[in-house]
Amino acid sequence: MSSPDLFYLAPLQGFTDFVYRRCYQQLFGDIDEYYIPYIAAGSGSKIRNSQFREILPENNGQLLVVPQILCANGEETKQLAGELRNFGYRKVNLNLGCPYPMATNRGRGTGLLENPEKLKEVLDILFGEFDFEVSVKFRAGLICEHTIFDRLELLGSYPFRKMIFHPRTANQLYKGTANRELFARLASMSQHPLVYNGDIQSVSDLDEIKRQVPNQNEWMIGRGILADPFLVSRLKGHLPNQATQRDMKWQFHEMMLESYRQIFPDQGQVFEKMKAFWSYFQRVLPTRTKLLNPSKKPEI
Ligand SMILES: Cc1cc2nc3c(=O)[nH]c(=O)nc-3n(C[C@H](O)[C@H](O)[C@H](O)COP(=O)(O)O)c2cc1C
Repeated sequence: MSSPDLFYLAPLQGFTDFVYRRCYQQLFGDIDEYYIPYIAAGSGSKIRNSQFREILPENNGQLLVVPQILCANGEETKQLAGELRNFGYRKVNLNLGCPYPMATNRGRGTGLLENPEKLKEVLDILFGEFDFEVSVKFRAGLICEHTIFDRLELLGSYPFRKMIFHPRTANQLYKGTANRELFARLASMSQHPLVYNGDIQSVSDLDEIKRQVPNQNEWMIGRGILADPFLVSRLKGHLPNQATQRDMKWQFHEMMLESYRQIFPDQGQVFEKMKAFWSYFQRVLPTRTKLLNPSKKPEI
């Protein structure tokens, strides 16, 4: 018998923030782990406030969260992992997937995946100087899909708790579709089971990957959930009826708005946060709902 499916919320900086995670959990509650968007050393080695509040334990309550670090070398790793340890975290995720030149040019994200010496330095510190359960999230490479095959031996020599693979190269950003065939190839070679991540939006997407990787049962989903908060219920076959869905969508929206209002005294900030939420959430609303005309007060 195959193991039950496990679903993880992908980290999306600016979207899956602690407000989103808490409201989602309260209403939908069907996620096995919530991955927190990355923290990184900013100017003067300081973590930005917007990233810092995401890891504050009081903002995450009882949620099963996994914080993520974006780093380029041992020194940054020590700093960021040290912050997380001081907050009492037991798990950490290493970002080897960030595709943006601002990160990769500094040797972070996919840039670190491309540099085996620095990667080893980071992993030796993460596994040797801390006692985290470590997971890793990676792309295929900066430009070429070969990088991940070249790096599999190094990654496989560390006892990762999870290896999450988004089968695109960094220079693709989010263009085209995730390469499921590439995922299947890597899964067949990896000693660790892989978590699949990329472009899951429907039951048929999941079925298609299961057809290519029959025992696949761990899934990380980001934009699909943002655009349809019932996606995981749909995938689990527990979709509530239409009237309940309508009520829950309304409640979700109200909960998000109220939470942002409590956190941000400035209405402009609340509007910006809600605009980010709406940019995906509007896809489950009736098509006549026009939400993103900034000159008009949004209605729902
Ligand atoms: C706006 C945005 C922000 C993201 N922020 C992060 C991040 O902080 N850490 C990370 O590992 N991935 C980040 N990602 C990548 C997602 O976690 C995920 O890998 C990607 O969206 C593909 O999964 P999906 O198709 O299910 O959304 C981000 C993606 C987007 C679009």
